[in-house]
Amino acid sequence: METVLSGIRSTGNLHLGNYFGAVQNFLKMQQEYNCYFFVADYHSLTTHPKPDNLHNNVKQVFAEYLAAGIDPELATLYIQSDVPEIPELYLLLNMNSYIGELERTTTFKDKVRKQPENVNAGLLTYPVLMAADILIHRAHKVPVGKDQEQNLEMTRKFAKRFNHMYGVEYFHMPDPFNFGKELVKVPGLDGTGKMGKSDGNGIYLAEEPASIRKKVMSAVTDSGPVKPNQEMTEPVKNLFYLLELMSEKSTLDHFRNAYNTCTIRYGDLKKQLAEDIIKFTDPLRTRINEIYNDEVYLSKVVKMGEEKARASASQTLKDVRKIMGFKSF
Ligand code: TYM
Repeated sequence: METVLSGIRSTGNLHLGNYFGAVQNFLKMQQEYNCYFFVADYHSLTTHPKPDNLHNNVKQVFAEYLAAGIDPELATLYIQSDVPEIPELYLLLNMNSYIGELERTTTFKDKVRKQPENVNAGLLTYPVLMAADILIHRAHKVPVGKDQEQNLEMTRKFAKRFNHMYGVEYFHMPDPFNFGKELVKVPGLDGTGKMGKSDGNGIYLAEEPASIRKKVMSAVTDSGPVKPNQEMTEPVKNLFYLLELMSEKSTLDHFRNAYNTCTIRYGDLKKQLAEDIIKFTDPLRTRINEIYNDEVYLSKVVKMGEEKARASASQTLKDVRKIMGFKSF
């Protein structure tokens, strides 16, 4: 049976981009694949969270996964830092990864631009830790959004290099995965780029309706089409993309037609979009809050995940150490 793995950094609440990029595809797979889903708390250290925030964020993301429908009996749901085999594999993989290739990754270059005061070594080796996350369970498929495509390429490169270096066929080449074929990039509300945790342009699964309405109503648009079937500007294209994700087809058709005939009022589109998002997030928000406050349930699920994840991880690590030549005296 093929193995599927996905993860989310615990740097903030889950937003719609995370849901449609990573979680939704995973949910469809948990019945038929050997599935691992984890909270990447070590990765969040690259932005230096305060200790209290670190814990609360892990708890929040964990509760959000469960509320979104991950079944901890079917899938293995765990916290990265509960599995010490991951940092050990990270250490081993670091020896076969090169500074030049790490410096060239887009995500690293982005971070250098965004946080020039904190270009730590963890940022540079971020793709190696991610490779360790994936290879520790020898995953075949990795549901991710478009932004993680390059990191997945790095994982394949490290896996191939390991196999080649030691003359084995041990690691599979994991593929980024989306049921709709193309990896998705959910846009933010600020007119350009993707919805992100740190960019303040996202809608969170746990967000209150009033706040969703406010954010959507202030999304960037343009001054409107002046001729029929005019090419859309990026901010407007983004709103239509969100409508396509969140609304009925008839709603989408209605606003597309209004755009193409120059009768569109962006205010009406936003109002409808906000209500459709709320319809989707409202039941999730209620479930997230219930689960977040159920300490007994959470600790049971966390422990169960840790045990299952370590059983698989320790086997891989044992094999890798043997392949590399570690022997006991
Ligand atoms: P992170 O936490 O930034 O995002 C988690 C997942 O959500 C997807 N995503 C999006 N998809 C579509 N549109 C968007 N606007 C959008 N924003 C985020 C991401 O592609 C990702 O799939 N490095 C990873 C976490 C990680 C990981 C792993 C993922 C660590 N180890 C191993 C997969 C496998 C990250 O920071 O994702």
